[in-house]
Amino acid sequence: MNVVLKVEDIGISFGSNHVLKSMSFELGENEVLGVIGPNGAGKTVMLNILTGILRPTKGKITFLGEDVTQKTITERCRMGFGRTFQVPRPFEKMTVFENVIVGGVYGDSLREKEAKKRALTITEMIGLGDKRDWFAGKLGLLDRKRLEIARALASNPKILLFDEVAGGLTESEVSDILDIVRMVKRQGVSVVWIEHVLKTMREGTDRVLCLAEGRDVVCGLPEEVMQSKEVHEVYLGAEEE
Ligand SMILES: Nc1ncnc2c1ncn2[C@@H]1O[C@H](COP(=O)(O)OP(=O)(O)OP(=O)(O)O)[C@@H](O)[C@H]1O
Ligand SMILES: [Mg+2]
Repeated sequence: MNVVLKVEDIGISFGSNHVLKSMSFELGENEVLGVIGPNGAGKTVMLNILTGILRPTKGKITFLGEDVTQKTITERCRMGFGRTFQVPRPFEKMTVFENVIVGGVYGDSLREKEAKKRALTITEMIGLGDKRDWFAGKLGLLDRKRLEIARALASNPKILLFDEVAGGLTESEVSDILDIVRMVKRQGVSVVWIEHVLKTMREGTDRVLCLAEGRDVVCGLPEEVMQSKEVHEVYLGAEEE
């Protein structure tokens, strides 16, 4: 496996809340790595550390062979980190098209002309071609999620970090998201995909990592991880609480 992203022994605490104690994993080239774990396990915190929003108290992050642990959000974005937010936050008073243009201009330093060209392609590809001129604030949940991914793609990322892009959607809408993730993968982008919907993890990922108690509890092929005694204990423990 050609490693794109390497996370080694990452830790972070908020006061006495030791959210991540020791987290390690590798993301391969053109791989979709699913991340599961109970509510409050620290999945979003991990994503915020990867993108530079939060600084870990220990550990190292290497991206394409370069140590990025001390790099800023902007630097990482320019190097090829893209992400979506758990709660989509588009510019509501801007159109779908304008929102995607912003991704290209600020995320990849494109001139307006190039950003527009890219936004045309991406909105078409993601299934928002007929809603380009809609205000983002008028979109339903599935289209907001689509827009989140489109905005992230506009910065031409090498890796994409998805925070529950399928959360809150119906089963047929989840299929649409699965198709989009497959398309992203076909374009050669590697993906870290946090999700509670286990069906999507089973069908849409190459490997799955379970995060619990501040650690990477188990990582492997989706079916193996889902059936592992570690995951069983983590979720059974959560049910008994
Ligand atoms: N900026 C912050 N300051 C202090 N505590 C924080 C901060 N961000 C997250 N936490 C705490 O870290 C813990 C993990 O939160 P996180 O949002 O990463 O969980 P999660 O695994 O994403 O959960 P969910 O599945 O519900 O999205 C929680 O106890 C949360 O309160
Ligand atoms: Mg979260």
